[in-house]
Amino acid sequence: MATIISGKELSAKMKAEMARKVATFPEKYGRVPHLVVILVGEDPASQSYVKGKAKASEVVGIKNTTILRPASITQDELLSLIDSLNADDSVDGILVQLPLPAHIDEARIIEAIAKEKDVDGFHPLNVAALWMKQPCIVACTPKGIIRMLDEAGVEISGKKAVVIGRSQIVGLPVAKLLLDRNATVTICHSRTKDLPSVTRDAEILVVAIGRPRFVTADMVSEGTVVIDVGVNRDPETGKLCGDVDYDAVEPKASVITPVPGGVGPMTITCLMENTIECFEKKMGK
Ligand code: GUN
Repeated sequence: MATIISGKELSAKMKAEMARKVATFPEKYGRVPHLVVILVGEDPASQSYVKGKAKASEVVGIKNTTILRPASITQDELLSLIDSLNADDSVDGILVQLPLPAHIDEARIIEAIAKEKDVDGFHPLNVAALWMKQPCIVACTPKGIIRMLDEAGVEISGKKAVVIGRSQIVGLPVAKLLLDRNATVTICHSRTKDLPSVTRDAEILVVAIGRPRFVTADMVSEGTVVIDVGVNRDPETGKLCGDVDYDAVEPKASVITPVPGGVGPMTITCLMENTIECFEKKMGK
């Protein structure tokens, strides 16, 4: 039986700690951190993520402003909204919920956010700083994954880590963070030949590919640490499921994360951490 890392429980603990810290800020700094989330359009998944961010902000004591804009907003209008938030000294963090409508260039939008307010850690200068081992804002999901491994007491150094997925948001940054912790990292993707032979060699397996129950028991060796980043709808039941066939893989794993209640809550919690970091840096801590 695997040790199950509950992202939900760890998140609750971290949020309680952050709430205690934030409660000291009004006296220390005259105000609390302020996170602005921009949601363009009415995608139900994005709406739900944005709600989760507002709720977590409330628990931690961070001021949250959610700005809703129609899917018809032009790129220039969105850019000028970001400009005004960049210039607003009362705003510490800016997050534009992705994906954006097809007529808007996401890269252009991310680049427009002041790097000091880029709580997602997606700005090219933050990404570059991560790869150059300089101080930076680290993307929330990869940051949350490392926290979960640490919480479970998983030794990363010297381990063979395999990451399935090479996205800018998860696969690439988590691979870099694992490398920085002295893992030997392999990144797999759709063109990887004989994927099961690669994943069977993993001591730590991070799966961020976005395909329901993609990782099956035959792809995992006994004792592997399995981190499931997937959030999918089961095509048959409509229920949430991960990228890992949990029921089949859990008996072989030494440590595993569930879906829901695993990596997902940690992403939002690390967003709270990043917002506090941006605030404290600004306040000269
Ligand atoms: N859409 C899905 N995940 C994310 C995320 O981490 N940040 C933003 N901004 N949009 C997302």
